[in-house]
Amino acid sequence: MKHFLTLKDFTKEQLEEILHLAIQIKKETKEKIYKPYLPMQTLGMIFEKSSTRTRVSFETGIYQLGGVGLFLSANDIQLGRGEPIKDTARVISRMVDMVMIRNNSQKELEEFASHSKVPVINGLTDLFHPVQLMADYMTIMEYGLDKNLKVAYIGDGNNITHSWLMLASIMGFDLSVATPKGYEVDSKILADALNMAKKSGATIITTNDPKTAAKDATIVTSDTWVSMGQEEEKSKRIKEFEGFIVDAKLMKLASSKAKYLHCLPAYRGYEVSEEIFEKHSDIIFDEAENRLHAQKAIMVWLDQQR
Ligand code: CP
Ligand code: NVA
Repeated sequence: MKHFLTLKDFTKEQLEEILHLAIQIKKETKEKIYKPYLPMQTLGMIFEKSSTRTRVSFETGIYQLGGVGLFLSANDIQLGRGEPIKDTARVISRMVDMVMIRNNSQKELEEFASHSKVPVINGLTDLFHPVQLMADYMTIMEYGLDKNLKVAYIGDGNNITHSWLMLASIMGFDLSVATPKGYEVDSKILADALNMAKKSGATIITTNDPKTAAKDATIVTSDTWVSMGQEEEKSKRIKEFEGFIVDAKLMKLASSKAKYLHCLPAYRGYEVSEEIFEKHSDIIFDEAENRLHAQKAIMVWLDQQR
């Protein structure tokens, strides 16, 4: 049995298999062909944090696959009142067929998984957001941008950035990460990525200069400067992230064919200008839609590994 906790646990071939399945399932869905890949299966969906895309895509996805999603807000289940995570895992995993969790801590997610009888999917933690990156790469493939791919990530060294590091180092594309001083990526995750990059041939660069990162990029991407749980740091962060907005001036340094991606929700005037966001809104909302298709493929693939 396999879990989907971080991209690091997967080979390039496995990720490609899931991505091709996602493209096939998307095609079927567009033709209104809903094959019951997971009949009668229940997906438990535990949320400790807010969500629009993750909740809607997983709940719709499992339904389209022939199963049902169970939305479990951490505040409404006993977990929120202190029931140990390992007991929650041992109970829920006897009743459902798969679990998706969005929580504050990768460590706790891993603890849940180690006590679960069924596959567990990471729906975002403090360290990673792997399902988002599967949708991002699927979008890159659909737009034919996966050849000679050079990604520039501009902004906070957060869960999205860490997942880009993992994806690049496994798939073997070039990634430049520009963060303000003090907001760099986790050093252990960077070391892991640099190590994996030796095998895949990825070039990974970290800098404090957005212009260096953006140069000749074929994909430019950014994420909120204030992740969920960091609301108290908002005014400090806005000051310290000055100069890290992705705007027309920065995009000019990228390749003339470059596209801008955003995992959403997006805060215009901060990590991206209104102009750049709207100019690239077609690909950004394809990226959002692909959460549905990519995650359906992840669920089907995990079911096949049992
Ligand atoms: N990108 C993403 O995960 O969005 P939600 O927080 O709305 O789920
Ligand atoms: N870094 C953001 C991603 C939201 C999808 C957060 O953790 O809030």
